[in-house]
Amino acid sequence: ATNRTFTMIKPDAVADGNIGAILKMIEEAGFKIIAMKYTKLTADLAGKFYEVHKERPFYGELVEYMSSGPIVAAILEKDNAVADFRTLIGATNPAEAAEGTIRKLYAKSIGENAVHGSDSDENAAIEGSFYFSETERF
Ligand code: CMP
Repeated sequence: ATNRTFTMIKPDAVADGNIGAILKMIEEAGFKIIAMKYTKLTADLAGKFYEVHKERPFYGELVEYMSSGPIVAAILEKDNAVADFRTLIGATNPAEAAEGTIRKLYAKSIGENAVHGSDSDENAAIEGSFYFSETERF
């Protein structure tokens, strides 16, 4: 079924000048952009976005990194969006990401891993609503 996922192009990929290359891969893979913005998280907002990881040892580092520079946030639509987007981006750790995936091409490390992709339909809806109102979706 057609459904939606949520992505962020993370600070490392933005700083490296890879926004265009990553969006090109996303569009060529058949994802339709429903909403998009170029923005920057405060540490407070990054902490809220990643609240599910609060007890993890890397939480502080993750929040600091995700608020270190601008990002691109977007809602994407496609048949089987959540799973197909996770295939397109590759494993969280770029050392384990398959050839040709976004993380294999552009990620630096498990923390600075170029892109985010929602892990379920439920989280895609929650994450999309974190950034976008109904009037910002087309
Ligand atoms: P993402 O899928 O966007 O959401 C959780 C993030 O936590 C993940 O990407 C990684 O960037 C980060 N992360 C996961 N595991 C680790 C780790 N072991 N060390 C540092 N960051 C991590």
